[in-house]
Amino acid sequence: MDAIVTRNLSKVYKGLGKGHHKSLDSLSLTVAANEVFGFLGRNGAGKTTTIKMLCSLLKPTEGDALVFGESTRTRQARRLIGYLPEQPYFYEYLNPKETIAFYGKLQGLTRAERDRQWDKLSELLDLREIATQRIKGFSKGMRQRIGFAVALVGDPPLLILDEPMSGLDPIGRRMIRELILRLRDEKKTLFFSSHVLGDVEQICDRVGILVKGKLVRAGRIDALLGSAVNPVEVICTGLAVADVTRLKEQAELYRAMEELHVFRAATPEIANEMVRQILAAGGKLVEFNPLKETLEDYFMREQTQDGTVRMEGAIQ
Ligand SMILES: Nc1ncnc2c1ncn2[C@@H]1O[C@H](COP(=O)(O)OP(=O)(O)O)[C@@H](O)[C@H]1O
Ligand SMILES: [Mg+2]
Repeated sequence: MDAIVTRNLSKVYKGLGKGHHKSLDSLSLTVAANEVFGFLGRNGAGKTTTIKMLCSLLKPTEGDALVFGESTRTRQARRLIGYLPEQPYFYEYLNPKETIAFYGKLQGLTRAERDRQWDKLSELLDLREIATQRIKGFSKGMRQRIGFAVALVGDPPLLILDEPMSGLDPIGRRMIRELILRLRDEKKTLFFSSHVLGDVEQICDRVGILVKGKLVRAGRIDALLGSAVNPVEVICTGLAVADVTRLKEQAELYRAMEELHVFRAATPEIANEMVRQILAAGGKLVEFNPLKETLEDYFMREQTQDGTVRMEGAIQ
């Protein structure tokens, strides 16, 4: 059975005035059991909105969502989900051990079960050394580990993590990546959001790309990249100014150094046509480099094709 199914899931926040802007627009998505699914999008794309609806913290305006076949409107669905919020909130005067015990109690675990949970989670998340220190004063990385442990209390089959690597240093990010893979080995399903592509590229079975509330693509990373048309870098020399001007109409002039011109053509076809013109004009071809597209390039391209998304600025 699929871990997550959403059908036309939509959200319009009240109080945003007229204009019917949908923060999430008809999301239909399926995540298989035991899959690691990366939910990508820039800030404001609608990732947290989606996650909150999956965790029944927000009511959909339209559509619905199922978790292992249970409607997210039911209490049963919530029990199947371990949730790590974007900014986990803790009782600052409790220590990690008390925190895990507290959430265990909320779930009705017995004392023995709570102790077992602590043994397992403190080992998994390396919490032993800080077991009896108050959370107040903990670093972002330590908090994220505790947040992860809280999400795992009760051993839910589905983990929904909102930007789990955000704000962490490289070591912290790696720890979260390894944790996600370890949990996948334990047959859990992981759904996590991110605006940082490098992390996602390495560990996800599939990704979905959200742009302004709309899912523009979903699929296996290799398939998404495989179907993509790769740009080609064309490096040439010996061209007159008029030739360069003409070529610039077909491709971006990426760099110009002395005699050398580096163009970036959007497709191999355009690149081939440019080569023909370069040679016909008496120029020389120095290099012809098909560029391997990273997920980041792909992501940026998807966003521009959408037409509604501005390009300036990096993904933040
Ligand atoms: N409580 C809210 N009230 C009104 N608008 C909101 C609220 N929460 C989020 N939004 C808007 O919904 C859109 C999606 O936000 P969000 O789901 O937080 O995106 P992401 O998590 O991808 O950064 C944004 O335009 C945001 O301003
Ligand atoms: Mg968010």
